[in-house]
Amino acid sequence: MSEVKVALLGFGTIGYGVYTNITNEQNTIQNVVKQTVKITGALIRDPHKERSIAKDILLTTDFHELLAKEKPDVVIEAMGGIEPTLTYIKDALNAGCHVISANKDLIARHGKDIEEIAKANNVFFAYEASVGGGIPLIRTIKELLQFNHIEQIEAILNGTSNFILSYMRSEKASFEDALEIAKAKGYAEPDPTNDVEGYDPFYKAMVLSNLMYGAQPHWEDVFVEGISKVKTDELLLAETLGFRLKQFVSINDALQVSVGLHFVDNTHPLYGVEGVDNAIRFKAKTLGFLTLQGPGAGANATSSAIIEDLVSFYTKEKVVPEVPKQTRVPENAERPTSTY
Ligand code: NDP
Ligand code: HSE
Repeated sequence: MSEVKVALLGFGTIGYGVYTNITNEQNTIQNVVKQTVKITGALIRDPHKERSIAKDILLTTDFHELLAKEKPDVVIEAMGGIEPTLTYIKDALNAGCHVISANKDLIARHGKDIEEIAKANNVFFAYEASVGGGIPLIRTIKELLQFNHIEQIEAILNGTSNFILSYMRSEKASFEDALEIAKAKGYAEPDPTNDVEGYDPFYKAMVLSNLMYGAQPHWEDVFVEGISKVKTDELLLAETLGFRLKQFVSINDALQVSVGLHFVDNTHPLYGVEGVDNAIRFKAKTLGFLTLQGPGAGANATSSAIIEDLVSFYTKEKVVPEVPKQTRVPENAERPTSTY
């Protein structure tokens, strides 16, 4: 059986999650892609950290060694930051590797350029994990809502913030205690400023804006409100009045984008989205409303999205199966009578 070689950029919460899930689910992956998937190595920053990883896997602080020693077919970027990450992604694409990234900050800024480079090299670039954690959100927009014009979305896109707001209310906990738990669970970024000040969902909104409308608004025109100043007492008082505080990302087809806090009652469709869950509610022209909800952060949810991207590279031709000719209705066939 042939082999797909995968190199990881980053071996933290997400890199380790991908490694563990690919290792533990090797048989399942093999059944789907009809090849074995081998992790060849991982790029790290600190060579002295204790790591739980098989001895034959290269751990290196040198990106070029990772690419040269055993040339990967796929590079998975889970290291974060803008540089040197962008350079590594470009180098990997130019070397003929498919690339998967979970890095919304980078894709919000450079996603279009990266996609161009991927196209020029005839390789894939995918970033499902960058928005909405494990929810197949990017694929829904790219592949399942092509004919439907998306008029607007309302979404919860930061797992850490939604977890903190839920936890402060349900456990009567302080913001600081809730944040510590979100960090321990691997939901928050190493520096959680972007999570709690609203910039993480802002970057995600920019990724979606590009994807849905091919453009972004001027960043300085976007209202961004984080959760760092929310007090437990406010949440508890709101609860007694039947309201919950939620942070919503709103985007519409006039490129109006905002990230803001809203008190909503239980008639609001996203009122019940709790804990680390994210959700996105599309208003599509022909379809109407569609809501997707699922885990928005954490090692397993994010690895799930990354591994789905990986698998899709090797099953692309099966994603949109051609309708077999004999099942097509002949043009002159009599139409069935409706029973309604
Ligand atoms: P971590 O901090 O846990 O892991 C980052 C990893 O990258 C570490 O292994 C670190 O090395 C390595 N690294 C960082 N900078 C460098 C560098 N310059 N050179 C070499 N290695 C480097 O972060 P996460 O795993 O939580 O997040 C990674 C990415 O995934 C981010 O872009 C984040 O936004 C995104 N993401 C995270 C989610 C989550 O739930 N945590 C969900 C969706 C996306 P070392 O171990 O030596 O420090
Ligand atoms: N820190 C991010 C969040 C990770 O909490 O939503 C998922 O992108």
